[in-house]
Amino acid sequence: MAKQFSVPRGTSDILPQNITRWRRLEETSRKFLETYGYREIRTPGFEETELFARSVGQTSDIVEKQMLNLSSRQEEGKAVPLSLRPEGTAAVVRSYIENNLDTTESLSKLYYIGPMYRGERPQKGRLRQFHQIGVEAIGPQRRAEDDPCLAYLDAEVIALSVNLLKAFGVKGFELKINTLGSAKDKEHFSKYLRDQLKSGLKKLPAEDQKRFSRNIFRILDSKNKEHRAMVSGLKLDGEQYLSQESREYFERVQKALRQLKIDFQVNPSLVRGLDYYTHTVFEISHAGLGAQDALGAGGRYDNLVGQLSGGKKEECGALGFALGIERILLTLPEEEKSQPFDAYVIAMDEESFPDAFGLLADLRRAEFRADMSYRVSSIKSQMRQANKAGGAGTGFVCIIGKEERQKGVVAVKNMETGEQQEIGRKSFVSDFKKLNKKG
Ligand code: HAM
Repeated sequence: MAKQFSVPRGTSDILPQNITRWRRLEETSRKFLETYGYREIRTPGFEETELFARSVGQTSDIVEKQMLNLSSRQEEGKAVPLSLRPEGTAAVVRSYIENNLDTTESLSKLYYIGPMYRGERPQKGRLRQFHQIGVEAIGPQRRAEDDPCLAYLDAEVIALSVNLLKAFGVKGFELKINTLGSAKDKEHFSKYLRDQLKSGLKKLPAEDQKRFSRNIFRILDSKNKEHRAMVSGLKLDGEQYLSQESREYFERVQKALRQLKIDFQVNPSLVRGLDYYTHTVFEISHAGLGAQDALGAGGRYDNLVGQLSGGKKEECGALGFALGIERILLTLPEEEKSQPFDAYVIAMDEESFPDAFGLLADLRRAEFRADMSYRVSSIKSQMRQANKAGGAGTGFVCIIGKEERQKGVVAVKNMETGEQQEIGRKSFVSDFKKLNKKG
């Protein structure tokens, strides 16, 4: 027997009956983000693998375990490894550098909506193809170190992610924020953690030791009980590893968030699993989601433009976030009803078909949502199809048979009230507009 194909593991079809809620999120996002001055950018679905290794980080879970690699292509005699994009930031920064946006804009406010790919073990809220709504604000002299007032931009970006979730109708989420400090502070932070955890680290299995020797921050957000116990007694108020400027900057971010009336909690062990962050980091979680509880996350990444341009570009400050659409939808009520058709045209016999077909074209030209069954069958069966049309049914059925043709009318039935009337064919569209309250 022929093999029956199914959707690849960790992916899903978004069927027409579910599309309304997707569109609503996408449309709300576009409208909302554009009022904040963000403009849409679309980058390819795959990039050179090295771009992700050098930005998200060679030792991050994403690059170490979750990359979905494409078979390498030969480019000018060299094999160039390519991967499906696991996230959007690296690609946006690549495009920002390649298109020299720093020379034309003092602050590029960019957003994207689209699929991302990670080869994770699928579970509720964790997919191999998922969708993000992402925002990146990038510009020269926009680093936290360049101007303390940039803390207001951090607060605005965080507030934007929160307000976007509110606009979608999401309730019961929590915002956690933290600071990692500058690149130098991060080094101090890493050394501080190594010193504090030295004796405990030695007792861990070799694999964990290796993992934490490459990236000690990973222990802070590890869900493993033993790791949690090791870090639970740590003093993480920043005094030992953050500079005075970094602490003041973070204070300002918090003050600005209070001014914007955004509730938050400072969580000193929030470090994020992607290497590029410096200074402000944040995560929004929802208790109703279970193990995969992050609705979205982001932060500042002031060194990435310099790093990816190999020092050719001046350091640009940057920050952003991404929200996961599938997880947002898990927190929202089930399907909203899709819109019914305005009109469903029925031809009673083959001879009436050309007139019915013409009527359908006239209705669509006047921007009515209209359809027909494209076959001649009993009125009962066509009515049944009208009721099911597009999954949401039909407002009015417009019938043309021999009698209607002779009289130059269309029989119109209101499917809600059952009322039926005849409307002259010549002025049909304008009269139907009145009837349908669209005129
Ligand atoms: P991230 O924390 O890796 O950050 O992902 C952001 C959000 O994408 C998560 O909070 C979650 O809602 C969703 N997400 C991630 N992985 C999956 C998955 N396997 N299945 C379903 N949803 C998932 C980033 O991607 C950064 N680029 C965010 C950013 C932008 N930072 C600065 N600018």
